[in-house]
Amino acid sequence: MNKLVIDGGKPLYGELRAQGAKNAVLPILAAASMAEGECIIHNCPGLRDVEKTVIILERLGCKVKREGNTVTIDSSVLTGCRIDEELMREMRSSIIFLGAILTACAKAEVGMPGGCPIGLRPIDLHIKSLKKMGVSIAEEHGYLQCRCERLKGCDVHLDFPSVGATENIMLAAVKAEGTTTITNAAREPEIYDLACFLNKIGAKVKGAGSSVITIEGVEKLHGTEYAIMPDRIVAQTYLIAALITGGRIRICGAEPSHMRAALSLLSEMGAGIKEDETGIELKSSGTLKNVHIIRTMPYPGFPTDIQSPFMALASVAEGTSVFVENIFENRFRHVDELVRMGADIKVEGRSAVVRGVKRLCGANVEAYELRGGAALVLAALSAEGRSTVSGIDYIDRGYEDIEGCLACCGAEICRVCT
Ligand code: EPZ
Repeated sequence: MNKLVIDGGKPLYGELRAQGAKNAVLPILAAASMAEGECIIHNCPGLRDVEKTVIILERLGCKVKREGNTVTIDSSVLTGCRIDEELMREMRSSIIFLGAILTACAKAEVGMPGGCPIGLRPIDLHIKSLKKMGVSIAEEHGYLQCRCERLKGCDVHLDFPSVGATENIMLAAVKAEGTTTITNAAREPEIYDLACFLNKIGAKVKGAGSSVITIEGVEKLHGTEYAIMPDRIVAQTYLIAALITGGRIRICGAEPSHMRAALSLLSEMGAGIKEDETGIELKSSGTLKNVHIIRTMPYPGFPTDIQSPFMALASVAEGTSVFVENIFENRFRHVDELVRMGADIKVEGRSAVVRGVKRLCGANVEAYELRGGAALVLAALSAEGRSTVSGIDYIDRGYEDIEGCLACCGAEICRVCT
């Protein structure tokens, strides 16, 4: 089992480049399968989830070439329309291929994604919306059997601004007959990045980033060259690494406008933040104050993906902070592991009450999901003594070379493969 060994207690100082956004590149790679030509995608992060997405593209018949952070996809000839259940179980977000495969092949057979450590992850909004667009969907033997002669544009209202459902409808609508309007659409920056990519391959998408998105169906899509937006969650994670260790880190290429909710809270907690057109710098002021209450919300509210890194930070802040997790029903798996390091946290339903302690102490802890794992790394960087973090396959799904990035800022961290 791979693990990270971290000797904590050292302030981090350095400069990092923002990696490409995992939650933008996944839907954009899925969209590339519809392009009927060659798409060259730059700033593609080296992540396990990207590797899995490339396997899905190849099984659909795409030719994929990877050179560093550039991936070239040739989808001139698609031969498949199926995603096997083991791949879906490994990466449930592959469900966003459904809209793309239906657009390209008029039929699709994908394994039911099922849940994951942070929650049940239902797909009812995806299914209801696609059925409204004329897709017949049967759930048989753990697979979604989907058929549709021609996708039809229509008005779709989302009961919840689901990121994945918004993306699936966009991918199904780009070549549909007529116009599709999504109301109560997700407003995350990754949705806007997907729309920019779709428009570059010839689609007609308007309003992405707002809660009303319209997509006018077109006849044909074509290849393009595109660079993925910076990853706002990874950038915020590394800014927190500077604050929790009392150091200073600059993230080049990060986009401050994507992280307003978190940046204002980091300033409230005692961080000095400087932004300019090339990135963001966070400098610790030496003191760390609590935040009374943090509620996770759909964008532009406080992002659920940065809740656990913030909880690691609050564990060593003066005073008490309350976290309310409104998006996923099981996103406190990191709490027991932080308590093992000496944190004082009590969970009651969807709320966690964190009373800051002076210091955490190193311990052997385990990651049970991606962002909770990143939170444990942050806690270990701040803790007195040695920690090991196992279950780092989860962390590798979303953080490119996390130990390399932190080590170049002075962290004593290494990966041990046993
Ligand atoms: C995306 O997941 C992200 N993943 C998640 O990031 C992120 O936490 C989430 O959006 C919220 O911002 C990717 O983009 C690959 P949702 P997604 O559909 O699309 C409920 C990470 O760590 N819901 O917006 O699955 C659902 O149960 C990951 O990078 C339904 O009820 O999120 C949840 O409570 C974790 N029915 C809420 O909506 C549906 O049909 C948010 O889900 C769909 C969703």
